[in-house]
Amino acid sequence: MADFEIRDLRASVEGKEILKGVTLAINKGEVHAVMGPNGSGKSTLSYALMGHPGYTIDGGDVLFKGQNILALEPDARARLGIFLAFQYPVVVPGISMTNFLRTAINARRGYDGKDKSKQISPKEFRSLLKDELEVLHAPDLSSAAGSPHPPGPTRVPWCRRPLGSGEI
Ligand SMILES: Nc1ncnc2c1ncn2[C@@H]1O[C@H](COP(=O)(O)OP(=O)(O)OP(=O)(O)O)[C@@H](O)[C@H]1O
Ligand SMILES: [Mg+2]
Repeated sequence: MADFEIRDLRASVEGKEILKGVTLAINKGEVHAVMGPNGSGKSTLSYALMGHPGYTIDGGDVLFKGQNILALEPDARARLGIFLAFQYPVVVPGISMTNFLRTAINARRGYDGKDKSKQISPKEFRSLLKDELEVLHAPDLSSAAGSPHPPGPTRVPWCRRPLGSGEI
């Protein structure tokens, strides 16, 4: 079984059937491009995988590491490591990029502001961020859009992968 399997997925939006049986298997480290004309359902597939409430699943299965995710809420899917990047990044005034990323990692680790043992340490975060920025050929976040010093707005970036490849 592949790490991520979409099996005969059917989905509709506002009563209109869009996905009519999509099957795709993806393993760790693979990059797949889904291509098709405007309106063919690429975004619908992404939203359906993430659990967007406006998209109805009519049939099929989506398995992530063997677990069927279709019954999970979007945040539970996100905690498993599934991430939907924005086509047009949004600015969130007052939230720096590093803050945004560190908060996302802590959420995945189950840190709720109480049990500090679950929190990523500043040192570990800096090291992880440095490694990931090198992969993206991004020099540093102070020069990235939306991350001036002092704290500025966040532009949620196009991501090659979720930070830490879902293993954080
Ligand atoms: N919220 C919505 N309400 C009604 N119809 C929708 C909605 N979202 C998508 N659709 C319809 O679903 C179909 C697939 O659209 P979708 O946006 O998934 O295509 P796409 O392949 O991502 O297109 P593009 O290349 O333009 O991004 C289209 O016919 C579109 O009109
Ligand atoms: Mg689209």
